[in-house]
Amino acid sequence: MNDISQLLENFRPPAFPGSLFLSFEGIEGAGKSTQIVRVKEYLESKDFRVLVLREPGGTSFGEKLRQAILGSKNPIHPVSEMHLFASSRAQLLTEVTMKELNTPGTVVIYDRYIDSSIAYQGKGRGLGTETILKTHQTFPLTLMPHKTFYLKIDPELSYRRQKIRNAPKDYFEKQGLEFYQKLVEGYEEALAYFPNRIAAIDGSQGEMEVFEQIKGQLDQILFRESKEY
Ligand code: TYD
Repeated sequence: MNDISQLLENFRPPAFPGSLFLSFEGIEGAGKSTQIVRVKEYLESKDFRVLVLREPGGTSFGEKLRQAILGSKNPIHPVSEMHLFASSRAQLLTEVTMKELNTPGTVVIYDRYIDSSIAYQGKGRGLGTETILKTHQTFPLTLMPHKTFYLKIDPELSYRRQKIRNAPKDYFEKQGLEFYQKLVEGYEEALAYFPNRIAAIDGSQGEMEVFEQIKGQLDQILFRESKEY
């Protein structure tokens, strides 16, 4: 077996029967927040208990790291960046996620997860996907979502949508079009490594069309015979 398939073997969803771990991914302006709200409402209407967590952050330690990264006035070394995101992730997994998933009927939705590290640090910052995968070889970082919805838009659309929003730009949002192009390539690499986990959805469609596609995929997971997700 080659190195990569050995690395990939270690990644698996948490074994909590009756609970589900989801994540949403995409570049700025892809529509993650809107879809997360819709999915939460939909799952609650089906009597699931839903928690939305954001990365980086979600714990008091993680929020400090979030501030350290996203509020930084000076450039952070890519390796430091990768480890900061992974630290926040490990803390959120153990302090919150695993405890919550222990209650059957719970859905934990992450706003960004490992694929953001692959796209932003792996491709955007040039560390490479394998470096990111290797950094995640220690439990709890080996825990993978049952399903990841990657809302795919091109960098030009991302820029247009960000312009309309006109919000103050954080650390990554100040980057140029070229950086966004790299992020899209990074997400394509993540897809190639995890073709079953990641569902790529065309995020340039209208909100309702995007939601219908996500819902279709969710229903397949939720309403199949076995509840051993
Ligand atoms: P956030 O304000 O949550 O952005 P968004 O609304 O786009 O999700 O900021 C998170 C930023 O951190 C975002 O630009 C992506 C970046 N990021 C990484 O670079 N690596 C990671 O592993 C994660 C989780 C996020």
